[in-house]
Amino acid sequence: MKIAIGSDHGGYDLKRLIVSYLKDQGGEVVDVGCHSLESVDYPDFAELVCEQVQSGTCPGGILICGTGIGMSIAANRYRDIRAALCHEAYTARMSREHNNANVLCIGARVVGQEVALDIVRAWISTEFAGGRHQVRLAKLR
Ligand code: RB5
Repeated sequence: MKIAIGSDHGGYDLKRLIVSYLKDQGGEVVDVGCHSLESVDYPDFAELVCEQVQSGTCPGGILICGTGIGMSIAANRYRDIRAALCHEAYTARMSREHNNANVLCIGARVVGQEVALDIVRAWISTEFAGGRHQVRLAKLR
């Protein structure tokens, strides 16, 4: 899955780690920033990632801020974006299987690096189950 990834300053270090993990795995990554630890506003990067996902350029997006909360609030304002804030691998997997989440949000100040990579691994390797879950998603209008 080609992934668009963005963060604010609170998620910058974890974003770098996840980008290098995904690239090591042979993944295609579009890094929309931020590109330093300088203070920035998370909605700006949520918008850039959501645009990539909405346009179909990247089927999936990852957004990282300090808590993941601001990014998830921002991303879920965009049409057809289903952003899931996950703190461990189980909810990451279920967010794909049951909710067809197309954006994963992570709080860099909440989870450690290894847990974050577990979350990413679970999220990118799980397919949407469809069926009854598609019926439910169709009601999210
Ligand atoms: C930035 O300090 C912090 O507020 C931001 O990264 C995020 O946690 C907001 O939800």
